[in-house]
Amino acid sequence: MVNRQTCTHCGECVIDCPARIISLGEDGYPTIASEKEGTCYRCQHCLAICPTGSVSILGQHASGSRPLKGAFPDPDALETLIRGRRSVRRFKPENLDPVLFQKLLDVAWQAPTGVNSRQVRFTVLDSHEKVVHLRDEVMAGLLRLVNNNALPERMGYFANFVSIWEKHRVDIIFRDAPHLLIASAPQHLASPMQDCMIALASFDLFAQANGVGTLWNGLAKWAMNDILPETRRRLGIPDDHLFGYAMVFGKPAVHYARTVEHGPALVYRAMEGSVSDVPVD
Ligand SMILES: Cc1cc2nc3c(=O)[nH]c(=O)nc-3n(C[C@H](O)[C@H](O)[C@H](O)COP(=O)(O)O)c2cc1C
Repeated sequence: MVNRQTCTHCGECVIDCPARIISLGEDGYPTIASEKEGTCYRCQHCLAICPTGSVSILGQHASGSRPLKGAFPDPDALETLIRGRRSVRRFKPENLDPVLFQKLLDVAWQAPTGVNSRQVRFTVLDSHEKVVHLRDEVMAGLLRLVNNNALPERMGYFANFVSIWEKHRVDIIFRDAPHLLIASAPQHLASPMQDCMIALASFDLFAQANGVGTLWNGLAKWAMNDILPETRRRLGIPDDHLFGYAMVFGKPAVHYARTVEHGPALVYRAMEGSVSDVPVD
């Protein structure tokens, strides 16, 4: 839909459309031929780029969008967030406010996906009680494998975590966090792993910007997906989904006073010098 009162015929929507399905009609207004609608990426670039907010698509209108002029975060603040986010391994037991919980997921889900497939699924445990329940099941499953000498060899170190749990009730896997997030996506997509990781990376930063602690959790992933795959079924992760990764999160019971410094980046400048210097076999 194009608002004919405000469209200036600038053609920006035509140029920016990645599927190249928008054209200016004979009347000078942008249009999509009905036979081309099926190849729309559903990216909404036409709505995003229109300087006068005249384009509506897929039921979305400019009035429902945020204006961007001058609204991006200050680069210094964003740098401090990237440098200052830490893996949190100590959590308060209380659950997050449900409104914030939902907002973190909704914002993270805005992350880009290959060919805009937007099929990343967030499987969540929204209360400490549920994570405790899952943790108890996973620890019991691992203990069974330890007792039967049936842990996969390359994951033998999980026996230590079970032992620490049994002796001291210290949870090295889920870190006694109140919430768990798993990103999964259908295997057949163009880039399911990348889609999941970008969504989780977005979640990570946005959560920490909101004072919520996060921990990327390879141990939980291996326990739930690789060692005890019945757990992923129990959590309702579809069989045809790639288990992207797991993250635990909640109010931190730890406060970091400063950033750590890891730089400079490991950079290799390829194609330095003249291209003819590159040896060719
Ligand atoms: C993909 C990935 C998996 C991780 N898995 C775990 C994990 O299972 N348990 C854990 O305690 N930390 C885990 N971490 C946290 C890393 O150990 C941590 O990022 C690293 O030590 C640097 O600390 P920082 O995140 O505070 O900068 C993981 C991090 C990443 C990126």
